Amino acid sequence: MRHLMSPLDFSVEELDKLLDLANDIEKYPDKYAHVCDGKRIATLFYEPSTRTRLSFEAAMMNLGGKVLGFSSASSSSAAKGESVADTIRMASCYADIAAIRHPKEGAPLVASMVSSIPVINAGDGGHQHPTQTLTDLLTIRSLKGRLDHLVIGLCGDLKFGRTVHSLIEALSRYAGVYFVLISPEELRVPSYITEGMRQDNIPYKEVERLEDAIPELDLLYMTRVQKERFFNEEDYVRMKDFYILDKVKMELAGPDMLVLHPLPRVNEIAVEVDSDPRAVYFKQVQYGVYVRMALILTLLELEV
Ligand code: NCD
Repeated sequence: MRHLMSPLDFSVEELDKLLDLANDIEKYPDKYAHVCDGKRIATLFYEPSTRTRLSFEAAMMNLGGKVLGFSSASSSSAAKGESVADTIRMASCYADIAAIRHPKEGAPLVASMVSSIPVINAGDGGHQHPTQTLTDLLTIRSLKGRLDHLVIGLCGDLKFGRTVHSLIEALSRYAGVYFVLISPEELRVPSYITEGMRQDNIPYKEVERLEDAIPELDLLYMTRVQKERFFNEEDYVRMKDFYILDKVKMELAGPDMLVLHPLPRVNEIAVEVDSDPRAVYFKQVQYGVYVRMALILTLLELEV
C-alpha cells in the first residue's frame, strides 16, 4: 500500500504517468465518472482549508465516490484529546483512502504508519504540501509544455510556505531548472533546503527585490505570508505587504511569464492582475481537481 507524504515519494517517471492520467481525465471526464463507485475518501482536516479539502471531495465525487470527514480540529474528537493515530485507525473502518491536514509537521506520516488505507498528506504545518505540488506541476507542464529548463521565481514567505518547500524538492529533479528565491531576509527558504540544493548542485540565487528578478523569469510563484506560523503579530504585520504584484510590475515581465499562486491570496497580488492572461492561479485550481483524481486512482490502484 502506498501513501503520499512528499512529492519525492513518486519517481520522475511515476509523476509523468500521473500527470498524463490527469490530462486524460481533463480531456475525457466521462470515462472516469464511475471508477470510484462505492469508494469513500475521508478528509481529516485539523487546519483551515478551502481549496484542498473541497478539491479532494470534488475529485472523489467526479469519480463516482463519496466523501466524509471533518474540517476543523474543534469539530472532531481531537478536541477531546484523541490522537491522530487513533483517528486514522477509526477512519480506516469508514473509508478507502484518507487526506489529512494538520498543523504539526509529521502528523500525516504518523497516521500513515498505523493506517490500513492509503494516507495523503494534505499539508503538515510549515513542512510539505505534496498535492499542491502535483497541482503546480500539472499546471506548469500543461501550460508551458515542460518541467525542465525553466527559470522559476518563488516569492514571498519562503520560510513557512510549505507549498514552496514541496515545489522546490519536486522541480529540483528536472534538468536546467534555475530557482530565483525572492524573499525578505527574515522569510528566506530554510537552510536545510538550500543546503540540500547546494549538495545536489541545483542552481539558485536569493534576492530581495521582486522588480529586479521579474524580467528573467519563466514563471513567478507568489505566496501569502503565513500568518498562522508567526510567533507574534507585530512581525506578521511588518512582513505582510512586503510584496505586492501589480500591473506596473507585470510590465517588467516577459510575454510568456506565468503567474501561479497556491491561494488563498491576501494582498500579494493586486486584483487588477487577475485579468492578465499570464495570471493562471484560477486555472491552477481546476488542475488541482484533475491531479487529485489521478492521485486517488493511482493510490487505490484502479485501472480504467
Ligand atoms: C496553501 C497551504 O495550505 O499551504 N493553500 C493551499 O492548500 N492551496 C497555501 C497557503 O495557505 O498560503
